[in-house]
Amino acid sequence: MPFDHFAAIAPLYARVTYSKTNIMREVAELPVKGILLDVGGGTGRVSSAIRDLVDEVVVADVSFGMLKEAPRAALKPVCGGSESLPFADNSFERVIMVDALHHVVNHADSAREMFRVLKPGGILVIEEPDIRTFGVKLIALAEKLLLMRSHFLAPDQIMKLFTSGEKKIRAEDGTAWVVIRKNKQNQ
Ligand SMILES: C[S@@+](CC[C@H](N)C(=O)[O-])C[C@H]1O[C@@H](n2cnc3c(N)ncnc32)[C@H](O)[C@@H]1O
Repeated sequence: MPFDHFAAIAPLYARVTYSKTNIMREVAELPVKGILLDVGGGTGRVSSAIRDLVDEVVVADVSFGMLKEAPRAALKPVCGGSESLPFADNSFERVIMVDALHHVVNHADSAREMFRVLKPGGILVIEEPDIRTFGVKLIALAEKLLLMRSHFLAPDQIMKLFTSGEKKIRAEDGTAWVVIRKNKQNQ
């Protein structure tokens, strides 16, 4: 099993607050009734900040060490990888993944799974450091030196992981949001 870098930094990570709540709120069209799934959600840093804008939050993450730091009273933690999510098709009103896509083992499988569990008419938001910017290129280099298995995709490459749905990209200040709305009719 590969070394879990995130378990090692989880107690510190839990103290970092999420600063892009307003943009997430806008692109994910929150508030909304229903359940939000935060994939690669770690300590629940992001979903804690938007918890009041949905009925329920499920945080799925491969690192038990990160999930251990998530506030259990507010968020439901589920340990597992994004490549094979343990949820039925069309389960969630919203699915988000923040700062995690570049860490997953398989981008295409993760995209397929997140889309599968999203309800028709629901919105999936992938927030990633924008690898087209100089600062993020430096972060990518640092993560390589730390032997993290990161692999960053540019926003248009992320968008191409999805073959259906209505898609858009927003990018500012070194961060990109790829937003996919699943069609209401069968895909
Ligand atoms: C940089 S942290 C971001 C955590 C959280 N989204 C946030 O913004 O606070 C990346 C997270 O992705 C998780 N992760 C990495 N690979 C994963 C995978 N294949 N499936 C699910 N989670 C994964 C890590 O365990 C870690 O918690």
